[in-house]
Amino acid sequence: MDVIQAIKERRSINFFETGKEISDEKVRELLELANLSPSSFNLQPWKVIVVKNPGRKKILRQCAFNQPKVDEASVVLIMIADPKGVEENIDRMLDSWQELGYMKPEMRETYMGMANNLYGTEDSLRRKFFAVKNTSLFAMNLMIAAKGLGLETHPMDGFDEDCIKKEFNIPADKIIPILVAVGYLKSGITLLPRAFRRKIDEFARFE
Ligand SMILES: Cc1cc2nc3c(=O)[nH]c(=O)nc-3n(C[C@H](O)[C@H](O)[C@H](O)COP(=O)(O)O)c2cc1C
Repeated sequence: MDVIQAIKERRSINFFETGKEISDEKVRELLELANLSPSSFNLQPWKVIVVKNPGRKKILRQCAFNQPKVDEASVVLIMIADPKGVEENIDRMLDSWQELGYMKPEMRETYMGMANNLYGTEDSLRRKFFAVKNTSLFAMNLMIAAKGLGLETHPMDGFDEDCIKKEFNIPADKIIPILVAVGYLKSGITLLPRAFRRKIDEFARFE
């Protein structure tokens, strides 16, 4: 499937085929594709919990206001935005830029300073935005990639974040922007047509 078709055909699926497994290899393939997403300074501040155990999905469903798709989908991905992604990844990232010739060694400190200036201190609002925007791009790429792999998805922000953090042992400083349910469309279900989209001129300005 080409990317235009994947974008056109992706839908948020409410009815998943229950009991249909996705192998860990397939989930890894999906994560590998999503992992090619762009990110600020290539800092990749995302973490993912792959929830596939039926009992764990039930607990997640309770945290997600009892949305049935949470335990009906084959797996649900808890997307975690990590504000500490800067500290965690910057050294490896700059090493790779240096090795690959993107950056001369003498520029390392300058780049380090730039990243710290751009993304603020660890607990700043700027840092939270940094983590959430990059993790959201990761999630979007994952949904398009899923379509290409023959899978369906449903993004969700209808959940109690504190409940998920407690049940899944996620540290308080992390942010959960979105859950993504992944699976297969339940057989016999026909999707309603895609709902309203605004006209381009309502939201785009050409200058
Ligand atoms: C960030 C985000 C959060 C969403 N949260 C929920 C949710 O909690 N429950 C739900 O049923 N749909 C949720 N949706 C799905 C939207 O309702 C859906 O994307 C929208 O209606 C457009 O439909 P489409 O994705 O099929 O084009 C969410 C979508 C996004 C992008």
